[in-house]
Amino acid sequence: MTGYITLDDGFANTGGTTSSITYIDGEKGILRYRGYRIEELAERCDFLEVAYLLIYGELPTADQLEEFRDNIRRHTLLHEGMKQLFAGFPPDAHPMAILSSVVGALAIYCKDSLDPLDEAQRQLSIYRLMAKMPTIAAFGYKQSIGQPFVYPQNHLTYCQNFLYMLFAVPSERYRMDPDYVEALNLLLILHADHGQNCSTSAVRMVGSSNVNLFSAISAGICALWGQLHGGANEACINMLEQILADNRNIGKYIDKAKDPNDPFRLMGFGHRIYKNYDPRAKIIKSVADRLIAKKIGTDPLFELAKELEEIALKDPYFVERKLYPNVDFYSGIIYRAMGIPKNMFTVLFALGRLPGWIAHWREMHLTPNKRIHRPRQLYIGYPERPFVPLIKRS
Ligand code: SDX
Repeated sequence: MTGYITLDDGFANTGGTTSSITYIDGEKGILRYRGYRIEELAERCDFLEVAYLLIYGELPTADQLEEFRDNIRRHTLLHEGMKQLFAGFPPDAHPMAILSSVVGALAIYCKDSLDPLDEAQRQLSIYRLMAKMPTIAAFGYKQSIGQPFVYPQNHLTYCQNFLYMLFAVPSERYRMDPDYVEALNLLLILHADHGQNCSTSAVRMVGSSNVNLFSAISAGICALWGQLHGGANEACINMLEQILADNRNIGKYIDKAKDPNDPFRLMGFGHRIYKNYDPRAKIIKSVADRLIAKKIGTDPLFELAKELEEIALKDPYFVERKLYPNVDFYSGIIYRAMGIPKNMFTVLFALGRLPGWIAHWREMHLTPNKRIHRPRQLYIGYPERPFVPLIKRS
């Protein structure tokens, strides 16, 4: 493709990869999916439209989008036998542990779509995963609160269906809130891809062995759970609640974050690539502003978060290190306003990131002469040395 960088094999051998999916300029705070600015996609697209763009490389026509939606709709149910898996989890099981376990189990129940080198099976596994992950996430939540599973309703949109499965109960008529559907659609788009981040690299690494898509995505879910990565959205709300309970003593926590001997970090702040404001955080903050004002008036945690940001962005420690709010700083504020519990926040991140993980997995398998990932290692251990028998070791 014109204008694309080409790198010799040497680059690939350093564990680096080339990709045509997402462009990020960390200095300027630019994020583009397949060449389209994230701001435009977030404002004007439906999540499945963006998922199609990421996975197949082009914005879909109306017919292509309807066919994509159809192919996903027909796979939203889980095999009934999978309900036993949920029954075996204790009520306090973390939803990310449930998600990675049950997504991995799809490799047991979807045996006719495990071969990543067979185009038909590859495509079927993509539809199944896009369709079933929201159902798995919602069933895991229902299990944790002791409510009956609510099955997907395929006349609903992707986001409507997820909120329905999450919050509807059989005994009541469920009222879909269009503002929350719109907010979820935007958040899923903003989380949809981000280049070679930790979890996407895990998906590419695991997938490079030619294991099935379900197993590779299960590995990505595990990587995302970490507090330094997607788990930061839950950790950020915990941090804000802790500061609020500590008389809103922001200065104390800013000092802790700056103390090299204190492991405390401002959750939702800083980024490996963005040395400017994360463009996603900017959008999420403005949506949170609108949604909170319209739905609940004010949220003390949101007010605290904005004050914390203002103080940190004036502090030389953060300014010198170019530490700004990232995608995880304000997203939990919106999830909270929607009534989603904290331990589900990273599950929502995973639902958004799914098409990005799939796109990278598929791009890797379509790369000519694809090789198993094996990053270079520089050995810095002992030189050869003589063996010491056990009786002589002190
Ligand atoms: C995501 O890669 C991606 O694209 C990820 C992601 C995606 O969409 O996939 O964008 C999603 O994971 C966002 C990041 C969410 N994580 C957090 O918010 C956790 C808190 N942030 C930090 O732990 C940290 O900023 C990281 C992990 C995000 C980035 O780590 P780096 O790039 O390794 O940065 P670093 O640890 O080398 O930090 C450089 C300096 C250090 O100080 P010095 O050693 O120079 O004195 O900045 C400091 C760090 O101590 N620092 C922080 C800080 N983040 C970095 N100090 C206080 N609070 C923070 N949050």
